Amino acid sequence: MEVVIIAGRAEGGSLVGGAIEALLAARPTAVLGLATGSSPQPVYDDLVTRHQAGTVSLGRARGFQLDEYVGLPPDHPESYRAVLEREVTARLDFSPGAVTGPEGGDLDDLPAACTRYEQAIAAAGGVDVQLLGIGGDGHIGFNEPTSSLASRTRLKTLTEQTRRDNARFFDGDVDAVPRHVLTQGIGTVLEARHLVLLAWGAGKAGAVARCVEGPVTAMVPASALQLHPHVTIVVDEAAAAELTLADYYRATWQAKPASQGL
Ligand code: F6R
Repeated sequence: MEVVIIAGRAEGGSLVGGAIEALLAARPTAVLGLATGSSPQPVYDDLVTRHQAGTVSLGRARGFQLDEYVGLPPDHPESYRAVLEREVTARLDFSPGAVTGPEGGDLDDLPAACTRYEQAIAAAGGVDVQLLGIGGDGHIGFNEPTSSLASRTRLKTLTEQTRRDNARFFDGDVDAVPRHVLTQGIGTVLEARHLVLLAWGAGKAGAVARCVEGPVTAMVPASALQLHPHVTIVVDEAAAAELTLADYYRATWQAKPASQGL
């Protein structure tokens, strides 16, 4: 795992945005794995800046959502489909239909929807870069603690803590946050070719330390990233505060040959 400790979110967004620009230059049909929530926002903002400057085009790229709420109508403003439409696809030049997600609306069709989603990712050739946030309890996607490390896209139940955390997107009303979600499994996420986890602020420091330096355990789903050969963890100083080897990560990053990229 490579841990990059940066001064602030904008620098983190620029770092990852630059890596995506390089990927798209080499492979215009690249497949991006798109997380929602606050953590990847600086990357999306940076990509918009690069797109406006004419250095990034997503016109031939594809995007796959990491997860989706179950039970919200697709046009609900906080469905992840709607959030990505607002925050990402409307601001970039993805082709119509190029960003897709699991269909969390129809309760009777969920297992088949999950299978179709896995098939769609595979048919696109898999994900080149998967953006991830991390929950305070160590979840990635909505793989809550005790999720199988081999799991595939499926229905999950959110913990009460995650629902309280996400109530900020629902006017503070925890009862409005769905209990159920569809999420790519940890096994699905681990098949992406490059995983980039972003974390900002002191509230993520414990989870980041357990992800990077703790044992691999289903109690901390993000710790499964230790099994992947190409992981970049981008954190600000506050989120890095509990990392035992922070000085080593800083020295390693400073000494890294620029030619290696992320
Ligand atoms: C969102 C997702 C979640 C979030 C995590 C952190 O698509 O999969 O794992 O990344 O809950 O949320 P934020 O970034 O809002 O702190």
